[in-house]
Amino acid sequence: MLWTLIKTIWLFLPAYTPNNFAVIFGGGKPIDLGKNFVDGKRILGDGKTFRGFFGGLFGGLITGLAQYKIEQIAGLEFFTTMPLSSALTLFLLLSLGSLTGDLLGSFIKRRLGIERGGKAPLLDQLDFLVVAIVFASFHEYFSSLYTAEVIVIALILTPLLHKLINVIAYLLRLKDVPW
Ligand code: CTP
Ligand code: MG
Repeated sequence: MLWTLIKTIWLFLPAYTPNNFAVIFGGGKPIDLGKNFVDGKRILGDGKTFRGFFGGLFGGLITGLAQYKIEQIAGLEFFTTMPLSSALTLFLLLSLGSLTGDLLGSFIKRRLGIERGGKAPLLDQLDFLVVAIVFASFHEYFSSLYTAEVIVIALILTPLLHKLINVIAYLLRLKDVPW
């Protein structure tokens, strides 16, 4: 069971790290360019920036690449069951999906009238994962690595992990609020 948990985290790590990299690299021009939606509220808000998005994308790719190298050194076979070029495509889909899900989550929060940085239970914790799974499902190796069991565990485990990571980021003063 513990092994399955570790395996699940390993397989989704390139979808987890983009948001943390976004926090580190974030700032500057917001993706919605400061514009409002038809409801008069911000489209996405100041918490979604170009730098955060591309920094996050870079972070997800670097994470995956590091994992690929670690697997080669340690003799593990998850991502290394595929050639590096296929693995890079998977890392791209996971990070791009994660960041897109994060944008979608903010879009929904703004429509619900929740201000930037406001809490939206489950949405904050699963938006990125669900869209990362959808994006990754287009990859040829998806079904062989991401079994139904792995996906179900990820959906349960992620809100708990997310909480833990955000509390750590908050304590390190990387985030203003612990969610
Ligand atoms: N961030 C960014 N660009 C992104 C995603 C995140 O710059 N595409 C940075 C922002 O500094 C943001 C921080 O990471 O404040 C934390 O991300 P998140 O919790 O997703 O944003 P919130 O500020 O909470 O805004 P929202 O309510 O829209 O989720
Ligand atoms: Mg937030």
